[in-house]
Amino acid sequence: MTVGELVHHTALRLSAPELLSEDPGQEARELVAHALGVLPAELPDQASNCVDSRQHGEFMRLLSRRLDAEPTGYIVGAVELLGLRFTVDRRGFIPRLDLPVLINAGLERVPREVSGFALDLACGIGAAGICVGHARPGLRVDLTDVSSEAIELARENADRLIPGRAQCYAGDLFQPLPRGRRYAIVTANPPWVPDGTPLPEEVINHEPPVSFFGGPDGLDVVRRLIRELPEWLAPGGVYAQECDPSQVDKVIGLLTGAGLRDPRAHPDKDGVRRVVSAQRHG
Ligand SMILES: C[S@@+](CC[C@H](N)C(=O)[O-])C[C@H]1O[C@@H](n2cnc3c(N)ncnc32)[C@H](O)[C@@H]1O
Repeated sequence: MTVGELVHHTALRLSAPELLSEDPGQEARELVAHALGVLPAELPDQASNCVDSRQHGEFMRLLSRRLDAEPTGYIVGAVELLGLRFTVDRRGFIPRLDLPVLINAGLERVPREVSGFALDLACGIGAAGICVGHARPGLRVDLTDVSSEAIELARENADRLIPGRAQCYAGDLFQPLPRGRRYAIVTANPPWVPDGTPLPEEVINHEPPVSFFGGPDGLDVVRRLIRELPEWLAPGGVYAQECDPSQVDKVIGLLTGAGLRDPRAHPDKDGVRRVVSAQRHG
């Protein structure tokens, strides 16, 4: 079998609904590339090469882990978003492929030549903040998360992808950040799942438990965050946050209640609203 055929068959296999793949094609490329010891971007050059028996054996080991509900990000140790390749392991939540909806919702309200500071709150491995920093070279980036393990990983990613431009802090929400700092943009994908919600095996058995649950209606962390948010935003500063589609109107209400203006709901590629943004008065 050729490399191209293996990618094709794997994508079909990963399309099975019970595997809950966000993008079977991308997962297939990740798994095949990892088995071959190359990056997914290098696969097109190898598409017509034959897969040898050692590579095939390695691939089958990786595939069986995925079919056992282990997330591909942890199997290959990486996830790619907006052209940046992030290291990921069990210390941190795996950024989902729709995180760019959140990143772009913030970026579309921030001029290209902006300077000052960006903040990624509850940053996990730091993907949103690092993408913002990459797209806005005039910004320095603060990354913060309650998990010190996730913050180690965020630091590793930031040092590699936006060297010298990021500071990492471990602690509850805004608590570890330098007092008096004001942000041009704050991104956040905090825990927002209502307590007791059943989560798929591949999520609950593998990812850090602190990532998910946010109290009875899921919004305990979000409410605390938005209460403090206005004092951390620079005049005109932008906030963008992910939440469940069912929470969008509630989060917009919290943001306007906190005095932010022009709240917007942003759809994902399927037209589902799952990101909210708003801005501090200038
Ligand atoms: C759903 S994960 C999202 C991670 C990252 N923003 C992303 O989208 O990949 C939620 C993150 O919130 C962090 N977290 C939970 N409670 C927190 C708190 N009180 N303060 C700061 N971070 C918190 C978790 O450690 C986890 O990394």
